[in-house]
Amino acid sequence: MRKDWFQKKVDSFSRLSGYKKPDKYSNVIKLDSNENYAISSEFLQELINETREKMDAREYPLGGSERLVSSLARYIKMPTEMVGVGNGSDQIIDLILGNFASKESKILTSEPTFGFFEERCKLYSIPTIKIPFDGKMSLDIEKFLSNSKKANILYLDSPNNPTGFQFQRKELEKIIQEFTGLVIIDEAYVEFSDYSVVDMARKLNNLVVLRTLSKSFGLAGLRIGYFVANKKTVDAFARVIQYPYPLNTVAIETGILALQKSKYFLDIADMVKKERTRIIEKLREMKVFKVFDSKANFVLFAADGASQRIHKALIEQGIVIKNLGKIGRHEGCLRVTVGSREMNSRFLTAIRDLLN
Ligand SMILES: Cc1ncc(COP(=O)(O)O)c(C=O)c1O
Repeated sequence: MRKDWFQKKVDSFSRLSGYKKPDKYSNVIKLDSNENYAISSEFLQELINETREKMDAREYPLGGSERLVSSLARYIKMPTEMVGVGNGSDQIIDLILGNFASKESKILTSEPTFGFFEERCKLYSIPTIKIPFDGKMSLDIEKFLSNSKKANILYLDSPNNPTGFQFQRKELEKIIQEFTGLVIIDEAYVEFSDYSVVDMARKLNNLVVLRTLSKSFGLAGLRIGYFVANKKTVDAFARVIQYPYPLNTVAIETGILALQKSKYFLDIADMVKKERTRIIEKLREMKVFKVFDSKANFVLFAADGASQRIHKALIEQGIVIKNLGKIGRHEGCLRVTVGSREMNSRFLTAIRDLLN
């Protein structure tokens, strides 16, 4: 092997853009990362305080992931043997791609899809077939069905980030059923959406459904991801592929406590859905944007040539949303996360003032 192979490899990584994390601002209304500020920070603080009494930080979290898995299984009403965990669903995505895909694989997905997933495919040089969103910001089931034989992995985020689109249940079920390779359905935003396909994993050995406590449970900072798949896949993942201690003790114990109080979080998710409708309606009333329906905790709207100006002017007023540029046929797309009612009102007032 040539002596400079290592530098060549470093050079190839250096050429990649990597996942671009959001810009960091302080003292702003942060509506750019699909976090969940509708959850009370004091409520979460109390859960974390409670975990302090239970934990001994000197110990490895032996048996911790397993207890969290039991709580997650109870929450989603699936068998414990069908649930695995990861350090955020990001880590689960990474381990699945790193171990099950290669340059010879082909992934069928949408354009756009979850940004981290796209970057991971680039890192591992995995070729992708991308089906673009149409002008109404929806996906054509036929395009997925006609391409399904050309790929051996299907990845769909349901609902999709950043558009908020979710297939009709029957359509997604059909796509999953027709696909013979590995199917990854990322349900990060499922609690804000119309349905889940998690039950299909009972029958389909090739289906992996990704979930997270980062969104509806507001625990993005603790990095608790999980997934549902058939027993054999979960066993191979948890025993061999996954690290021995993927989650730290604070995350495990807080996750378990949060799941015991799932009703609180699901009630807030309902409130977020109502706020989402309010944001969509108010933005539509302004009659200058194309505002897309959403099944997630964010709203995508196209502001065409005005998007840069709006994004910048909102930052000047202490409100940060995500500037995405062109998506499908729409120029100047902006994505706003649904926050607390007060945050949403501040955003709506600021944007209305900008237009006057
Ligand atoms: C579709 C999708 N999947 C996964 C994630 C990441 O979730 P986690 O915080 O569990 O890594 C996100 C976060 O934005 C997402 O939008």
